[in-house]
Amino acid sequence: MLTVAFVRRRGSRDRVYATREDGTSTSWAFPSYGDGLPGPVIDDFGCGSQSQHVRPWLHRKRPIGVEMGKLIYVAIASLDGYIEDEEGRFDWAMPDEEMHAFVNDLERPIGTYLYGRRMYETMVFWETASTEADEPPVFYDYAGIWRAAEKIVYSRTLQTVSSARTRIEREFDRDAVRRLKQSSGADIAVGGAELAGQAIGAELVDECHLFLNPILVGGGKRALPDKVRAQLELLDERRFGNGVVHLHYRISV
Ligand SMILES: NC(=O)c1ccc[n+]([C@@H]2O[C@H](COP(=O)([O-])OP(=O)(O)OC[C@H]3O[C@@H](n4cnc5c(N)ncnc54)[C@H](OP(=O)(O)O)[C@@H]3O)[C@@H](O)[C@H]2O)c1
Repeated sequence: MLTVAFVRRRGSRDRVYATREDGTSTSWAFPSYGDGLPGPVIDDFGCGSQSQHVRPWLHRKRPIGVEMGKLIYVAIASLDGYIEDEEGRFDWAMPDEEMHAFVNDLERPIGTYLYGRRMYETMVFWETASTEADEPPVFYDYAGIWRAAEKIVYSRTLQTVSSARTRIEREFDRDAVRRLKQSSGADIAVGGAELAGQAIGAELVDECHLFLNPILVGGGKRALPDKVRAQLELLDERRFGNGVVHLHYRISV
């Protein structure tokens, strides 16, 4: 087993420096990012401060050289766990600038969004969000992030989509999503609690980011699915000025 110390980029090659179990060191070069070469499994990471170009996958438990995207679920919810209240409202969940900037950075690496039809119908707003609106920079930043990503919309009823880089799937196929993760160099996000619940139940979701608002709404659409048992590992947490708490978990069903 190897522990990665740091990675340095040298022109078109990356050199990975690692420590063996017996304390000796080794290093090796990769010709390019995402080259798909087989390699030893990394089990423990300790990225050194000298690292300028640490590959994102070094932060995940996965074979070196085998590029694979994580599937993450991001939900903004009430403290009692709802993404929308019984009237279908979620105005109480709107992020302020501080939180918006955090969410932008969280979603910036996302290559593909998997959306339930209802969430897509909310998020497609960003496709045409006016550049002339009197909004803060985080607003336009997110519009750019959203437009740059691929989108897959799961729906049995939707006939057409109104955004670029978007296709419809009629069924949520576990194996197809697994293949997408395996072939994706970037992380993938699933959105819409109903669809995300299926993805969590199918053991496809690797990490969950919950933003809990300081409000009880008493009912509505639950952020997390019923009848799924999973062990969560808390990876990080953050408190925002508006009273929202961010909880970042790794999921193992
Ligand atoms: N809290 C917040 O910050 C926030 C932000 C944005 C939105 N929201 C709310 O969240 C809602 C979206 O979440 P949601 O849980 O209600 O819905 P969702 O998961 O986004 O969408 C559900 C729809 O996805 C399709 N679908 C689900 N499973 C499928 C499968 N296995 N195969 C094919 N299609 C499938 C179905 O569409 P069809 O009916 O077309 O077949 C289903 O009606 C929005 O409507 C909005 O109210 C909250």
